[in-house]
Amino acid sequence: MLVTAGPTREAIDPVRYISNRSSGKMGYALANAAHAMGAYVTLVSGPVGNVLRAAEGINIVNVESAGEMYEAVMRCRGGADIIIACAAVADYTPVLVSGLKLKKQEELTIELKKTKDILGALGREKSAYHVGFAAETHDLLHYAKGKLEAKNLDMIVANDVSRDDTGFDSSHNAVTIIKKNGGMREIEKDTKENIAQAILSEIASDLGE
Ligand code: CTP
Repeated sequence: MLVTAGPTREAIDPVRYISNRSSGKMGYALANAAHAMGAYVTLVSGPVGNVLRAAEGINIVNVESAGEMYEAVMRCRGGADIIIACAAVADYTPVLVSGLKLKKQEELTIELKKTKDILGALGREKSAYHVGFAAETHDLLHYAKGKLEAKNLDMIVANDVSRDDTGFDSSHNAVTIIKKNGGMREIEKDTKENIAQAILSEIASDLGE
C-alpha cells in the first residue's frame, strides 16, 4: 500500500514558504492501521514535525514540496495494490524561488504556477485501488463526487473542514465515504484511528478480502 500524508511546502525564498493546513494525523493513522493489519506500507510524508510516528516496518519517504512528493510517489508506486492520497498537496508553487531572503516592501506579488496533480496522474494509468480525500467548506458531496470521477478514483473520503471540532489539527474527524460503485457511508465524529479502520475495512470489502 502507498499512502501520502501531511502538507507540502513550496519555497518562496530561503525562509518562507506556501503551505496547506494539514497535520498529517489522518495519513499516519491510515499507514499505521494498514501496517498493523499486515500490509507492506510505503508512506510518502510531507513535513509533519516530530509528533507523529510511523510504526517500525513502514517504509517512510520524507519530502518537502509538491514536486518532490510527485517524484517520490512515481518512484514508489510500483507493486502497490492500494494507493491512498491523504496529503494536502499545495495546488500552486512560486514560478521563481529567490535564492536570497526577500526584503520587506509595500506590496509584493508572487507569481504562482500549478503543481502536478499526483492523484490525477495516477488515475490516468490506473493499476491499483485508488482512494482520494476531499476537504471542502461547502457543497461537500457535490465536489467530492466530482473529484471521484475526475481523478478516476474507487473511493473518496469527504470531510467538512468548516467544522471546528474535527479535521485539520484535531485528533478527530467526521467523514463521508463515497465509492465509485455508488455506495456511501457516513461516519460520525470519531478518532482518526477509528476512521482509518473504517476506511480500510471499506477498501477490504470492495477488494473481497
Ligand atoms: N492531490 C494530489 N496532487 C495534487 C493535489 C491534490 O494528489 N497536486 C490529491 C490529494 O491528496 C487529495 C485530492 O487530490 O486526495 C484532493 O483533490 P483536489 O482536487 O486537489 O483538492 P483541492 O486542492 O482541495 O481542489 P479544489 O481547490 O479544486 O477544491
